[in-house]
Amino acid sequence: MEIASVKGTHDVVGQEAAEERYIEMVMSSAAELYGYSEIIPPVLEYTEVFSRGTGGSSDIVRKEMYTFLDKGDRSVTLRPEFTAGVARAIVSGKLYATLDTPIKLYYHGPAFRYERPQLGRYRQFNQFGVECLGQDSPEADAECILLAVQSFQMLGFKNVHLKVNTIGDEETRKNYREALKAYFAGHIEEMCGDCHERLELNPMRILDCKVEADQKIAADAPRIDKYLSKGSEERYFKTLSILNDFGIEYEKDDSLVRGLDYYSEIVFEIHAVGPSGTDYGALCGGGHYGGLIEQFGGPEMAGVGFAVGLERIQSVMKEENLLGFVETGLDLYVMPVGEGALEGAFQLTEQARLLGFSAETPLASLKMGSLFKKAEKRKAKFALILGEDEIAKGVAQLKNLQTKEQKEIKLSSLDQELDAAFDAAGYGEEHKE
Ligand code: HAM
Repeated sequence: MEIASVKGTHDVVGQEAAEERYIEMVMSSAAELYGYSEIIPPVLEYTEVFSRGTGGSSDIVRKEMYTFLDKGDRSVTLRPEFTAGVARAIVSGKLYATLDTPIKLYYHGPAFRYERPQLGRYRQFNQFGVECLGQDSPEADAECILLAVQSFQMLGFKNVHLKVNTIGDEETRKNYREALKAYFAGHIEEMCGDCHERLELNPMRILDCKVEADQKIAADAPRIDKYLSKGSEERYFKTLSILNDFGIEYEKDDSLVRGLDYYSEIVFEIHAVGPSGTDYGALCGGGHYGGLIEQFGGPEMAGVGFAVGLERIQSVMKEENLLGFVETGLDLYVMPVGEGALEGAFQLTEQARLLGFSAETPLASLKMGSLFKKAEKRKAKFALILGEDEIAKGVAQLKNLQTKEQKEIKLSSLDQELDAAFDAAGYGEEHKE
């Protein structure tokens, strides 16, 4: 019986994997430009990291976590997101005492949510994200948003749609939740079962409900701006004025509340709509948060961060032809002509690899036609052809598989010969990564 992959998971192979790595690499370089360094937290955490950190009223904690008892009867969870785990790491490793503040960390890897799989929504997906902790200011929030926007620009995105909102401080949210409770209480009979629970746990979550009828009711709900404390309002406008100074365009969207409990003050999302109008959902989501570090027993330390979904970014980039140059092809396909050349080809292939050229040889005697077919399938840039005669003379034929030009090269100066050929073909140094 054929064994299928687990629903909502996918295998990422070859070209797709190279594209995902490329996106990760660009985002990592952007984060490093802004002074972030990498953290590799565990995939598995004690469940309370998320039930306390990510928050009991979030859909993620209520319905979507992969939670199970380990063999020691402890409840553990595959991370549904990184922020709570990073906060836990800062406390359990006492990083607040050893690292300079603000602590700026970036990460990437798989996250798991038991959601209904659909376009751009998986049960195992890859996130890249950043967290900046220990600097509670509109400047820190603005810098984080600038990094998010800059990352998308570095990936080649022309049009990203930045949405911002503030959900205010504790006092703001307390007053706002009461206002929402009073409003939704009058409509709750017409709303979905989840919203009944949300009304009790946190009525702000109702604004995130995906049920169309509920969204219509939510459209007339009170807006947060009426409940914003003076401090939150000033902070929000300060952040926006920094974005204005840098010419960053944004839409103020007062229905944006984000689905995680730790946020306060500014929240944001970046959306992109493909040229064919396909909506992949948010590519990036983040915001300011307080209280997380204290919840895990650390000092008072606010944070701001965001995470992106790598699969979603990759789909949009593919649709917008932004990944065409990411290639998985070989530099060289070494072709032995006849049994007698097999060993020489084997040695030459290894020699080329040690010089930094990706190279393959078929490890078997094949007809010329098959060798060229294989070179084409491996997307090789050049073929290096050698038979017994060439081996005896210490030469090989180097064929550019694009232009079909061929020339004899001396094996004693393989490095220089290959460098010259790759330079002449316009590949520069990129083959020597
Ligand atoms: P989030 O909005 O839940 O935020 O997730 C961030 C991004 O992960 C989303 O914008 C989306 O691109 C991607 N994503 C989420 N769920 C899925 C899924 N099922 N399949 C594919 N992609 C998905 C967070 O996770 C926060 N921890 C972000 C943050 C960091 N806030 C502050 N710091």
